[in-house]
Amino acid sequence: MALYSEKVMDHFRNPRNVGQIDDADGIGEVGNAKCGDIMRMYIKVDDDQVITDIKFNTFGCGSAIATSSMATEMIKGKTIDQALELSNKAVVEALDGLPTHKIHCSVLAEQAVRAAVKDYYDRKGIAYNPEDFREMDDEELHEHCGV
Ligand code: FES
Repeated sequence: MALYSEKVMDHFRNPRNVGQIDDADGIGEVGNAKCGDIMRMYIKVDDDQVITDIKFNTFGCGSAIATSSMATEMIKGKTIDQALELSNKAVVEALDGLPTHKIHCSVLAEQAVRAAVKDYYDRKGIAYNPEDFREMDDEELHEHCGV
């Protein structure tokens, strides 16, 4: 069996929603504790809290690119609440899986989305529970990744 699914290879070779949004409503930048790679996510949000546009930039590996590309496709047009419910596991499933040692790469996309939403809340002065946005420590990250 090939190491990477066709969907992973497709999103790696032709990533969707790459770039930046100059007048973004929220920007999230996170680093991957395991490898040091970086991801930046931009979101545009309308008055109904629908994410009308989303883009990402990354200094990350192919798996990070593929998961971010898929995550942005799954989030675009959804509400903030729906975006926050999107887990890295759901994104990995949508890509027909990743090798176990690459699962940690998919966490980068999820965390960048959360960081962008937090930035949006901060800019708009919308109240939120900080517990929902605290960064995961190493142990939680491993649990999250299942490795
Ligand atoms: Fe760093 Fe994949 S190895 S994000």
